[in-house]
Amino acid sequence: MNTNYIDLLLIHFPPKPNDPYTIQSLWQEFVSIKATGKVRYIGVSNFDIPQLNTLLEIGTPTINQIQYYLGSDNLEVVEFCKNHGILVEAYGPLTPLRNPNPKTDALIEKLQNANHLTKSQALFRYLLDNNILPITTSFKKERLKEALPAVAAALELVDLKFLFSRKYRNFLEIHLTQERSWQCGHHLIASS
Ligand SMILES: NC(=O)c1ccc[n+]([C@@H]2O[C@H](COP(=O)([O-])OP(=O)(O)OC[C@H]3O[C@@H](n4cnc5c(N)ncnc54)[C@H](OP(=O)(O)O)[C@@H]3O)[C@@H](O)[C@H]2O)c1
Repeated sequence: MNTNYIDLLLIHFPPKPNDPYTIQSLWQEFVSIKATGKVRYIGVSNFDIPQLNTLLEIGTPTINQIQYYLGSDNLEVVEFCKNHGILVEAYGPLTPLRNPNPKTDALIEKLQNANHLTKSQALFRYLLDNNILPITTSFKKERLKEALPAVAAALELVDLKFLFSRKYRNFLEIHLTQERSWQCGHHLIASS
C-alpha cells in the first residue's frame, strides 16, 4: 500500500453466527494491531445496535460506517452511536440522487436554496449539519471538485457544531494536520 500506517481500520461486516470468530475476538485482534502503531483508529461497519452493545462490553469503536443519507430510516443506530461517542460515517450519501422521491427531493431543494448548493452538496451538508461524516467517491474529477465546498463548509463547522466530544476532536485534528480530514477530502487531494 506504500504507506507507513493506516488511518482507519474497520471490521467491514459483523461476523455471522457460523464464523470462526466473534465480535469480541475480532475486536481484540484489532486492538492488538492498533497497539503496533501501524493503525491509528479502529472501528466497525454495518453494525446494528445489538452488535454495538456486544462490542461495547469490551471497547468503543471510533467509527461505525453505515449506509445513511437524507431520508434513510436507520436513525436509531445513528442516535445510539451519538449517545455512545461513536462517530457515524455515512456511506451512500448520494443515494437520493439515484433513487429520487418527491419528499426527499423537496428537502434537497430546500437545502439547496437556503445555502446556494448543488444537489450533492446539499446532501453532504445535511449529514454534516447532523454531525455525521459523509464518505463519497467518484471517478469524475468535476464531481469530486463539486464536493470540495461541502468539505470546506464542514471544516468551518468543526469548532462550532461538528465536534461534540474530545474523542472526535482528536480524530479530526490528526486528520486535518495531514490534509486527510475525510476520505472524500483525501480522494480530492489525491486526484486534483
Ligand atoms: N462499509 C460498507 O459496507 C460500504 C458499502 C458501500 C460503500 N462503502 C464506501 O463508501 C464509499 C462511497 O460510496 P457510495 O457509493 O456509498 O457513495 P455515494 O456518494 O452515495 O455514491 C457515489 C456514486 O455516486 C456518483 N456520484 C458522485 N458524485 C455525483 C454527483 N454529483 N451527481 C450524481 N452522481 C454522483 C458516483 O459515480 P461517478 O463515479 O460516475 O461520478 C459514485 O459512483 C465507497 O468508496 C466505499 O469506500 C462502504
